[in-house]
Amino acid sequence: MRSIRQDFPAFDRLERPLHFLDNAATSQICRPALEALLGFETEDRSNVKRGVYARAERASAAFDDARKSAAAFLNAARPEEVVFTSGATLGLNTAAHILEHRLEPGDVILVSLLEHHSNLVPWQLAAERRGASMRAIPVTDDGRLDLDRLDELAKGVKIVAVTHASNVTGAVTDVQRLRAFCDATGALLVLDGAQRAAHGPLDVQALGCDLYAFSGHKCFGPTGIGVLWGRYDLLDSAPPFLGGGEMIRRVNIERSTYAPPPHRYEAGTPPIGGAIALGAALRWAMAQDWTALEEQERELAGRMLDGLAAMPGCRVYGSTGTQARIGVVSFELEDVHAHDVCQLMDSDHGVMMRGGHHCAQPLMERFDTVATARASLAPYNDAADVAALLDGLLAVRRKLA
Ligand SMILES: Cc1ncc(COP(=O)(O)O)c(C=O)c1O
Repeated sequence: MRSIRQDFPAFDRLERPLHFLDNAATSQICRPALEALLGFETEDRSNVKRGVYARAERASAAFDDARKSAAAFLNAARPEEVVFTSGATLGLNTAAHILEHRLEPGDVILVSLLEHHSNLVPWQLAAERRGASMRAIPVTDDGRLDLDRLDELAKGVKIVAVTHASNVTGAVTDVQRLRAFCDATGALLVLDGAQRAAHGPLDVQALGCDLYAFSGHKCFGPTGIGVLWGRYDLLDSAPPFLGGGEMIRRVNIERSTYAPPPHRYEAGTPPIGGAIALGAALRWAMAQDWTALEEQERELAGRMLDGLAAMPGCRVYGSTGTQARIGVVSFELEDVHAHDVCQLMDSDHGVMMRGGHHCAQPLMERFDTVATARASLAPYNDAADVAALLDGLLAVRRKLA
């Protein structure tokens, strides 16, 4: 049977097994994305949107196709709703810029304790500029948004900005409940899709969100590229974020007029090869059987969670069940710092994972810890990776605890 690993050059010529379980940080690039990047850099490299020669026209066409692929991946109403960014971080900063003009002093931005700093700090900066304030949805003991508390948090909320899936507990957000809350309060809904986008195509129209951001490097594309999707009327309602070439209609010395979205938010030469490669990665993702991949991920996550739950002195942060979650699992071994766990797991057992606060300090505080170890799954992981993780952790515990 053909293995999905054949689609990932990282597994081509291994001298020892690659147990890569740091996919929530960055996943491996898929072959179509790497080939698209190489193809652009060798055969079509030229700037887009301005060239009149064939090479530049090919590059421009490939760039436009990438936007169409991203729109298809998101089920966006039109490609012009897709803004290329450098990643989720720039996407969320741009989202905050687009919406901050709607804020009056005293208004509230509702975030959550589950957020990555990328979905907190941009809103804090916007709140400071507009005299608005921040409020946070609490997190349950099993690492989910406590949406039963929404009603008591509602006063003055104009923007809700939360993660679609947690990079620490793996919890997937119940967007329908948030949508109902936003319908009742008139708030706008922004989703940080940095984690969720790596787990299959999306439908932003069915989700009912207003803005959605994700990074290419977590969904099998290259680094330095990402997407901010927005409802066209919202994108068209705000001034540019960054100024420069390509985002203008007409420039005079005193002032300028601006291009329509998405170009208004794409100042300067874009990451052309990155966008073309991301388009290829998203087409690869759209061609996969995600029902089977989700089943595989649930099965592996279940093994991982059961193994960790059975391990003496191991605490799992977040739910130990496999429902409404992605395969991102955080845990701590008693009396062993997460960094030591991760270093030994790499050097002694060939297992790569992440240790630290995961850019989620408010959540670490909620769980009364400073750092966790985190193992996260992608479609190319298998039972041998999970076995290496669990066996390795037992050995690390014997060595250090
Ligand atoms: C939930 C979440 N949001 C935002 C980000 C930021 O993504 P990037 O660093 O690619 O901009 C990350 C990255 O880890 C993340 O996990």
